Amino acid sequence: MSLLELDDVEVRYGSVRATHGISLRVEEAETVALVGSNGAGKSSTLKAIMGMAPVARGGVRLDGVPLNGLRPSQVVRRGVGYSPEGRRVFPMLSVLDNLRTGAFTLPRARFTARLEQVYAYFPRLKERPGQLAGSLSGGEQQMLAIARALMSCPRLFLLDEPSLGLAPVIVQRIGELITEIQRSEGLAVILAEQNALWAMRLAQRTAVIDLGRIQLEGPSEQLRHNEDVRRAYLGT
Ligand SMILES: Nc1ncnc2c1ncn2[C@@H]1O[C@H](COP(=O)(O)OP(=O)(O)O)[C@@H](O)[C@H]1O
Ligand SMILES: [Mg+2]
Repeated sequence: MSLLELDDVEVRYGSVRATHGISLRVEEAETVALVGSNGAGKSSTLKAIMGMAPVARGGVRLDGVPLNGLRPSQVVRRGVGYSPEGRRVFPMLSVLDNLRTGAFTLPRARFTARLEQVYAYFPRLKERPGQLAGSLSGGEQQMLAIARALMSCPRLFLLDEPSLGLAPVIVQRIGELITEIQRSEGLAVILAEQNALWAMRLAQRTAVIDLGRIQLEGPSEQLRHNEDVRRAYLGT
């Protein structure tokens, strides 16, 4: 049994079929890149796991237990963290209050210790707990979105387009942080990205999604050197 199992998941928004039967396994402490162009179905796949998209067919299981029909807050309680596309920090709340919203699963007594653990990854956030999130730079907002999702101590972390719209030097830093966090927490990670080459360098395994279907899957290293993959999906 894998940590996460998606079986034949179809997401449908009214008459729009966003995914057609996605099947995917994620093992404990594994990073999987879910790469594909805009509109391929990456976000819909992550939202199906989170209980945020209408699943018309198929199932999602965590540790063999179905997640179907759960609300997003219940999925977070089961151990799934989610950093949404576009960051979605609360602009009018401070850094600290954004982090508090991510900690709703934690007993009060554990909040401070977890906050210190999360701040240790993100010293720039620790330096400015009172600053309004809306006044942070794009990179800092992305770090805050990641930090907020980590507050609940997830075992599985879903990251939707963490590199989008950021300068290369910041993207590189975010990549280092994802690796550091994955290693020290023993997390399983799904990295949904249009920036395929970057995501594949961070992930042991890659699934290429196109037109709502997983077209290819395998060790990232192998896919990166596959000529057909490079031509069709990586633009190199
Ligand atoms: N809320 C929605 N209502 C209708 N169609 C949607 C909605 N969200 C996404 N879609 C459609 O579903 C498909 C997959 O979108 P999405 O999962 O966002 O892809 P990606 O994250 O890979 O860019 C696209 O055709 C998109 O237009
Ligand atoms: Mg998306």
